[in-house]
Amino acid sequence: MKANLIIKNIGNLVTMRGKKGPRVKEEMNNIEILKNAYIAIKDGKIVALGEGKFDEGLVGENTDIHDAKGLTVTPGLVDPHTHLVHGGSRENEFAMKISGVPYIEILKQGGGILSTVKSTKEASFEELYNKAKKSLDTMLTFGATTVEAKSGYGLDLDTEIKQLEVAKKLNEDHPVDIVSTFLGAHAVPKEYKENPDTFVDLVINEMLPKVKENNLAEFCDVFCEEGVFSVEQTREILQKSKELGYKVKLHADEIESIGGAELAGELKAISADHLMAASEEGMKLMAENGVIANLLPGTSFSLMKNYANARKMIEIGVPVSLSTDYNPGSCPTENIQFIMQLGSLGLKMTPNEVFTAVTINAAYAIDKGEEVGSIEIGKKADLVVFDAPNIEYIIYHFGINHVHKVYKEGKVVVEDRRTIY
Ligand code: NIG
Ligand code: FE
Repeated sequence: MKANLIIKNIGNLVTMRGKKGPRVKEEMNNIEILKNAYIAIKDGKIVALGEGKFDEGLVGENTDIHDAKGLTVTPGLVDPHTHLVHGGSRENEFAMKISGVPYIEILKQGGGILSTVKSTKEASFEELYNKAKKSLDTMLTFGATTVEAKSGYGLDLDTEIKQLEVAKKLNEDHPVDIVSTFLGAHAVPKEYKENPDTFVDLVINEMLPKVKENNLAEFCDVFCEEGVFSVEQTREILQKSKELGYKVKLHADEIESIGGAELAGELKAISADHLMAASEEGMKLMAENGVIANLLPGTSFSLMKNYANARKMIEIGVPVSLSTDYNPGSCPTENIQFIMQLGSLGLKMTPNEVFTAVTINAAYAIDKGEEVGSIEIGKKADLVVFDAPNIEYIIYHFGINHVHKVYKEGKVVVEDRRTIY
């Protein structure tokens, strides 16, 4: 077989090959790194890889050969929790935040998520598309080749569908792959303040079936939090969504420990996200039920709060992934590399664990672990070439962009930190 492309002279090739399924405990740290390696690609997929000289039989008349110049290559990064599509921004709340007004208090006063709901309702499809596309380009230049995108800034059927349609169109138009999540239960809209259960009924009976019917979301998510949606309301929504064929995830125990992690275990959710206040009992239930802890240290940083107990989670066998949580309120950044640096500096994860958390475990957190997240034969040739001698360097030298090149399905889409697709 002749390859379309061979990338040779890779100093460190971080493959993330291993067992099927998310990695736990020491598996997160024991990763395969090939030296002086190559990768061969055909039709956007990986067809061969190894150390030393590649098989000359792979080279045909039309085979391109790229020289990685001894740099470090990893799988394309996966960002499994973003609020990519939304209108407006919230820098007007910044002074309030740094003066100590709690995140939930700002929401209760009608700001926070509800302020973005207003901007998102007012924005046209094109405005939302252009803004999200710009963010997606930024994500790609930092090395993310697959991202999850949530709705949740409509809280009414039409606006939720508008957000999901934007994500769908971007998935078609943009090199980054997008996995969509319906987050209709992200906040209680002002009109339902006095009767939130009526809103829960609306989500269950109107929104969930319509979004599914239009095939606009693979996942359903709920913001399960004191003062937002209770464990009971979350259970009701997620059980119904499972019946309709959604896979489920939760914003769980971000601020208060109310049993979100326990519920994630009970429902066998694919992931529970945030978990800054998760109980040890909840973590154990997550480990027993294979729920991925999708941690968002940028949110701890930006809200100036504690970091989740990643060390405990890894110790008891919860698979851990990391995400930006990119959104206009609690974490306004698209920069996955900064999140990785906080994974070490805030969550105390080793660089090897961090790379597991943004590649193979992140892919499983959106049920794409059989397609992306590692460099192995048959998977998509989504790759990042880092201008770094090893992966420790990428974590240690923080706050800059280490990307040299990004390949999406075997095509160069970022060069010199600019998109070129
Ligand atoms: O994941 N916590 C709830 N939702 C988002 C923030 C949304 C916002 O503030 O706009 C989060 O942090
Ligand atoms: Fe979020």
